[in-house]
Amino acid sequence: MPAVPALNIPATSAIAQPEFLMGVATASYQIEGAADEDGRLQSIWDTYCDEPGRVLHGDTGDVACDHYHRWQADVDMIAGLGVDAYRLSIAWPRVMDEKGVPNPKGIGFYKNLLDALQAKGIQTYVTLYHWDLPQHWQDKGGWANRETAYAFAEYADLMSRELAGKVTAWATLNEPWCSAFLGYGIGRHAPGVTDLRQTTQALHHLLLGHGLALAKIKANDPKAMRGIVCNTGVFGPRTDSAADQDAAYLAYVQQNHWVFDPLLLGTYPQDLFRLWPGCEPLVLAGDMEIISTKMDFLGINYYFRAEVESDGKGGFQEAPHSDKVERTQMGWEVYPQGLTDLLVDFNARYPDMPPVYITENGMASDDSVGADGGVADPQRIRFLERHLMAVDTAIKAGVDVRGYFIWSLMDNFEWAYGYERRFGITHVDYTTQVRTPKHSSLAVQAFLQQRKERPVR
Ligand code: FCB
Repeated sequence: MPAVPALNIPATSAIAQPEFLMGVATASYQIEGAADEDGRLQSIWDTYCDEPGRVLHGDTGDVACDHYHRWQADVDMIAGLGVDAYRLSIAWPRVMDEKGVPNPKGIGFYKNLLDALQAKGIQTYVTLYHWDLPQHWQDKGGWANRETAYAFAEYADLMSRELAGKVTAWATLNEPWCSAFLGYGIGRHAPGVTDLRQTTQALHHLLLGHGLALAKIKANDPKAMRGIVCNTGVFGPRTDSAADQDAAYLAYVQQNHWVFDPLLLGTYPQDLFRLWPGCEPLVLAGDMEIISTKMDFLGINYYFRAEVESDGKGGFQEAPHSDKVERTQMGWEVYPQGLTDLLVDFNARYPDMPPVYITENGMASDDSVGADGGVADPQRIRFLERHLMAVDTAIKAGVDVRGYFIWSLMDNFEWAYGYERRFGITHVDYTTQVRTPKHSSLAVQAFLQQRKERPVR
């Protein structure tokens, strides 16, 4: 395989210092497979994938990267990269049954995995909910039903008791905006509902479940860090018109303030209901205090900027794609500056913002194994370098960012896009399950090696 130069990150940057945490990330449904094994129950994503027309090419997570059977080799692969940390998620349907009875086989899988990571000195960032809700909870209304928040807290209680001491940092939820808006608003994710009232209520219950879970984790595993992982977005107006500028502002409110305000200020942004009149969630006394429980870290996922315009009805819509900007296989604009802008803006808006970890950043490209056995992904290498330096700029501007996780360790099931979109720094051949490091993976590995060898400043 050709020698690939290390990521081009100046030795003086915060990113090049050994205390800046570097990691890779995955999620249960996207990599595990083994959908029917060892007592795993049906999840909403199994159901959604089985509905014709929902997922590109009819792909499902039944086999995915077969990580459930190949986890030992995958741990070796993670260790070989030289990263400090690995972010993974637990599949709720694997670890307890409908009555809440623990499933020792499912729990055992995660115990073994976390022990193996720990033995290799890799810090573990564990997400409790990365979208695979047990179907039996969906049958009772899913996140639109308040009961699900309490069920989630029971699940968090069980896991933090069982896995105490094996986890560096617990994240309650991954991207509750996606669960609520894509899942209940536009139906692009499981459970495929399209109802705005249910959307705001679902988000409220997700956040309530998050707050209730934080208390359980603190009681059971007090030494571990506790936080949440949220997606973010930045928006540009298509024109300078007041209507387009307001559209960009509302898009920002809907994408960011809707989730971060309740968590960090204990309130919902009122401008959201300018966009969605009459869709205020039902909030019971005490909910906002639970939701805004202090956290040890905030996980931020950032991918792209979108251009929006007024929809002529006081709302916003995505503007037609301009061909003047760089895009990825997803059609997403490459815009590293957005990450700096977001972090600086959040730091000003939320005075009590906990230390930040970038828990996901990365890109999809149509990668394949070349004649020389290597996988050239030059766009991804540049993407990672530029986004890491955008984080460095935010740190220099005073934002407390402590780490960065690449999405993803390997190609995997990209939700509604199935296996077509490849986000990995490792290529996966889904016929043979052979993993091949892409050039980006070699560049990350070389950078981390250099970082270790450099004398401490
Ligand atoms: C995020 C998800 C993650 C992955 C990336 C590309 O929204 O958290 O699972 O699909 O997007």
